[in-house]
Amino acid sequence: MSTEPLIPNRLDDERGALVILDQTLLPDRVRYLPLFTTREICRAIQTLQVRGAPAIGVAAAYGAYLAAKHAPQDDRKGFFAAFYEACDALAASRPTAVNLFWALKRMERCVAAHEEEPLSQITAALRREAEAIHREDEAQNLAISEHGLALLRPGDGILTHCNAGPIATSRYGTALGPILLGQERGYGFRVFADETRPLLQGARLTAFELQRAGVDVTLICDNMASAVMKNGWVQAVLVGCDRVAANGDTANKIGTSGVAILAKHYGIPFYVCGPTTTVDLDTPTGAQIPIEQRDPEEIRSLWYEKPMAPAGCGIYNPAFDVTDHSLIAGIVTEKGVARPPFAESLRGMLEK
Ligand code: MRU
Repeated sequence: MSTEPLIPNRLDDERGALVILDQTLLPDRVRYLPLFTTREICRAIQTLQVRGAPAIGVAAAYGAYLAAKHAPQDDRKGFFAAFYEACDALAASRPTAVNLFWALKRMERCVAAHEEEPLSQITAALRREAEAIHREDEAQNLAISEHGLALLRPGDGILTHCNAGPIATSRYGTALGPILLGQERGYGFRVFADETRPLLQGARLTAFELQRAGVDVTLICDNMASAVMKNGWVQAVLVGCDRVAANGDTANKIGTSGVAILAKHYGIPFYVCGPTTTVDLDTPTGAQIPIEQRDPEEIRSLWYEKPMAPAGCGIYNPAFDVTDHSLIAGIVTEKGVARPPFAESLRGMLEK
């Protein structure tokens, strides 16, 4: 099996394209896809060809840069209109992960800071800003991996939900970062990956990434987590996040809150891992986090040869749920581990 690093986002400036790893084809095929237009980038985010909160933030930043690069360079009004239109379209692609909005705001602030300059210089500044967002995410993920690893012991059993690995970020991953770092250092973790219905990010992506890295990974159906915990096989739960509210309530892949409730029941620490760019102090609690609703066909028929539900039956398909802050033992960011009460620890951490 190839161990080549997989690159979720890469700028091909010469072709004027964002090249993404098409995550919908994994684990069968590793295929990179060049995206040239804002519409193509939005579609790739909506269809989860590029996915994971930090990775969609990076994709949106490059998307905003490419919109400027492809905009008329001899018409200031047209240039700004094209840039802001692209930012609005990218912001509408998915609602929950705050990294997307954070990255776009940063790109807009960059334009504001260079507003009076020639358009070529504004475009160059946007390219530097998108690249900085990309590199900073890499560094943050490495720091998260170190802080997360410090919470674990050699030989631990770890359960994870969805995919928060290198392909969901820029490199290293958030929830999978400590596991992969531990693997390099001989920690010998045993990992249980929830398959993560309905889109199977755990089966298709987490099991794939961990297996490629040589980690001892066992795939389980989502409804098996309780049995595995009851057997005493799990010493810690690590998950990623899409938005952490000011009070610590955390939106992550649908099913995460159930795992947190189980972990509490069995006395297993439940850790959320994510960069501070996923913490949104402007969202007071989980109740204000917008939860994406997705196509009912993802549940009714997507992975089946024949539909697995009666035609016309009602379907509820939220992409995320919110884990109550009271269920979270710690939020692992690049700046360290925030502990309850999160309203104070998160604010203090962001102000550091
Ligand atoms: O719908 P997805 O696959 O984008 O959901 C992803 C998750 O829920 C991840 O856990 C989260 O974005 C963190 S990725 C480092």
